[in-house]
Amino acid sequence: MPGWTVIHVVETGSTNDDLFALATRQAARDRTVVVADHQSAGRGRLDRRWDAPAGKNLLCSILLDAGNRPQMAQHIVALALIEAAQEVAGVDLALKWPNDVVRVADGGSWSKAAGMLSVLVPDVGVIVGIGVNIGWAPEGGARIVTTDGRDDIAPLTMLSKLLSQIDRLRIMDDVAIIDVYRTALDTIGRRVRVEMSGDQMLEGRAIGVNDDGELIVLEACAMSHTVGVGDVIHLRDG
Ligand code: BTN
Repeated sequence: MPGWTVIHVVETGSTNDDLFALATRQAARDRTVVVADHQSAGRGRLDRRWDAPAGKNLLCSILLDAGNRPQMAQHIVALALIEAAQEVAGVDLALKWPNDVVRVADGGSWSKAAGMLSVLVPDVGVIVGIGVNIGWAPEGGARIVTTDGRDDIAPLTMLSKLLSQIDRLRIMDDVAIIDVYRTALDTIGRRVRVEMSGDQMLEGRAIGVNDDGELIVLEACAMSHTVGVGDVIHLRDG
């Protein structure tokens, strides 16, 4: 993985915590990755846990210098994973806003194949932690298996493809990245429920994302909202 510093550990608490500790004492910089075979305290979004049996899935954290646009780094990693999964397994994945990588079934229902949790390190960059289900998925989740059914993709093979796709996408400007992001987002056009902090909830149709990656939701009463942070559920049309 030319140009990247990859720190591979067998066992740790959380790769996000490890990379954060390195970055805050200036011991890690742009294009540093911590990857673990197993995490004993893997973190998910909204204070959830992120668990996986040892050696089955890709569990890594990637430090990127994202200037003043940390959300762009997250889009780049999510889009890079879609490309990497296509390259390694031949599967088509999509995004559920903001950056969940999902498999979409014919009827439009989705299952999550990868999740991301990002942490800002002031003056250094953004750590994008990513968990990719390959050999194992929790109930209701999807795994990345090849189109001919093989589920023995090595997590480090996926990592290598992911990093080269990140390099490819990073040379594109923000406008081009947001265009690719919009195309990959399965959320646009769907009826959604958005759960926001403080028990706030919004239902309507997702009609687009703005240049900052915020989701635009149109309520039935024709009022539109711009959402920066939230959990989206795709609803059936009805
Ligand atoms: C989510 O809830 O969707 C985000 C999951 C992020 C999990 C990854 S696994 C590697 C990295 N280290 C962590 O502790 N969390 C992230």
